[in-house]
Amino acid sequence: MHMHKFEKIWLIFGVATLIVFLSTIGVSAFYLGNKPPSCLTTINPDKVDQTKPFDKPGLHKVEGKEWDYELVYVASTFSYNPTEVKVPLGAKVRVIATTKDVVHGFEVAGTNINMMLEPGYVSEYTTTFDKEGEYLIVCNEYCGAGHHLMSSKIEVVK
Ligand code: CUA
Repeated sequence: MHMHKFEKIWLIFGVATLIVFLSTIGVSAFYLGNKPPSCLTTINPDKVDQTKPFDKPGLHKVEGKEWDYELVYVASTFSYNPTEVKVPLGAKVRVIATTKDVVHGFEVAGTNINMMLEPGYVSEYTTTFDKEGEYLIVCNEYCGAGHHLMSSKIEVVK
């Protein structure tokens, strides 16, 4: 079979690009353990306040898990519960959040925590707070008239 030189070059380029692309995803997923925010856990949005762990929002020390603390948030129009929390410096924290009504955002400014909170689903993210200071949590999904008022604060302290 005769193939034009340019055709060969592009074919090799295309296959090489595909290999690089798939290897990048493979290393990221299997070696570095990256995965999309779970959203695999479901919850009845009408019974959030009665469902563990959302019956007790806030920071909780946990034992025997990969993380040291669980930081539980309940979002609703137009606030987060808790509104302010203190996290010890260097703590590995599992952020667990859900919403009682509509879709809200959960972005911790200055970090790579950025989740969408959907009614009926639990969003989780594990991170280590290794810099002291104040972190603002904002809603980045338009959720109604008070959208711009929705915020909370994480203070990382020694
Ligand atoms: Cu909640 Cu915008």
